[in-house]
Parts: sequence; C-alpha cells; structure tokens
Amino acid sequence: MILIDGKKAAADLREDLKKEVAELKTKYNKVPNLTVILIGDMAPSQIYVRNKEKSAIEVGLKSEVIRYPNSVQEKVVLEKIKELNQDDSVSGILVQLPLPKHIDKQKVIETIDPSKDVDGFHPMNVGNLSSGYESSVPCTPLGCYLLIKKIEPNLSGKKAVVVGRSNLNGKPMTQLLLKENCTVTITHSRTKDLKAECLEADIIVAAVGIPELVKGDWVKEGTIVIDVGINKTDKGIVGDVDFDQVSKVAKALTPVPGGVGPMTIACLLKNTIDCFKRSQK
Ligand code: GUN
Repeated sequence: MILIDGKKAAADLREDLKKEVAELKTKYNKVPNLTVILIGDMAPSQIYVRNKEKSAIEVGLKSEVIRYPNSVQEKVVLEKIKELNQDDSVSGILVQLPLPKHIDKQKVIETIDPSKDVDGFHPMNVGNLSSGYESSVPCTPLGCYLLIKKIEPNLSGKKAVVVGRSNLNGKPMTQLLLKENCTVTITHSRTKDLKAECLEADIIVAAVGIPELVKGDWVKEGTIVIDVGINKTDKGIVGDVDFDQVSKVAKALTPVPGGVGPMTIACLLKNTIDCFKRSQK
C-alpha cells in the first residue's frame, strides 16, 4: 500500500511555487499578494490564517491580514473587499470562514472580484469550473486532485466515487475528476447502498464528515482512497475512512492528519500565483 505523504507533496509543491515566484519577480518586478480578512477571535480561524500567512511568506509572496472584531458591521467588510478589488497590488482575496451570524456569507463571497477569488467560491468560478473553463478551484479538492494525479497520471475511464456533495469539496472534486474523463458517481449520507457504490470505484474521495464511514469491505483491491475528513472523536482526530481496515486493501491511501490537509494551504498559494499570472496577461 502506498501511504500518500501529503506533507511531502505539499513541501514539493511549495518548492516549485517558490521558484515560480522568483521568476515572476524577475519578469514583472513584483510578487503576488494574498490578502486575508479575518473576523473575530475564533481559535481555529486564527491558527489557519497564521499558517496561511506563514506559508505565503515562505514561498516569497506578499501577504497581509486585515483583522476585524466579531462585532464589525457587514457593510464595513463589503467596502473593504471592494477597495481590495480595485487595488492592483492585491492579487488574491480570502475571507476566512466561518463568519459571525450577522454577516451574510453569500454576499461576502459574491462581492469578491472573481479574478481575485483564491478560494474559488464565487458563483462565477463555480460556473467556470463546471463548464470546463479556466477558473480558481477550491483549495482542498485541488489538493486531492494533485495527490491522485501523482499516483495515477492517466485517470481516463476510471470509476470515481465521491462521498459528499458539499460546495466546498464534493461538487468541485466531481468537476475535476470529470475533466480528467473519469466516470464519476456523487454519493452522500442519503445514498441507499453506499457500500455497493464504493465497491465499484477505482478512486474514492471521502468528504462527508462521518468518522470512519468507509470500511475495508467497501473498497476493492487496488483502489486509490483520498480521505478529506477531519472528525474530532473520543480517540482523537479521525478521517471519513477507517484507516486500519482500508489500508489493508487500497492501492494508496491518505492518512489523517498528514494527507490532504497540508496540500490545502499549498494550493491556496498556487491559486494566488495563478490569479496574479492571469492579471498580467
Ligand atoms: N475556513 C475553513 N476552510 C476554509 C477555506 O478553505 N477558505 C476559507 N475562506 N475559509 C475557510
């Protein structure tokens, strides 16, 4: 079994991105800039944003974090986003989620200029991705896609089963696999016979948020299994895949933690660089 090392893959990607940023600096005499808006003092968001900023600086990007208290008015945030949209020195804008209840998430996402939407959450980017046009792609499914391609460069005709239908993971993951000519089945918590669906798969991406849902006897031999889950349980953090069981049958499997997670931030940096490059065309 191949244990997919997300930490190593992310470090390799960051190394490539670092070289690319140096080349862009020579060519354009400036570097891509990622600006993050962080509202409130929720501990996980603080940690995520600190890691994003640290990684951005590590590969040579400019990064700024704009902080607001939990009580900030929605219009203040929307005005700031509009200002950043107009600012040519800003390549990418990310508003850290979740937001306080009094701020409309959809409004915030739709205010970000699609060409600076490094999360790929704007409906314009969602539509472009599903139409097969160039777009920002949400960072976690992009990371999963890159890990799968490392194991199996030619995905044409493979059967992929995506477990989970979220806008964040399941749906964009499906689009990426379709683009690679996979035959994709989207399943979810209400699917009638999830086990039977999974048993058909050459590739399984589990992103449904149910601890250790995918069992060893759900997976045929030789399947690539990507576990997007991060579930807090009594025995610590576990994925959506029963690691011990599935590692005995899968061809390749991502651990939790240390699989998909590290790729997410590296892909955010990639998206920021890609937004910058498109803006220079
Ligand atoms: N909060 C947790 N994950 C994410 C993400 O991928 N993007 C944003 N903007 N907020 C998040």
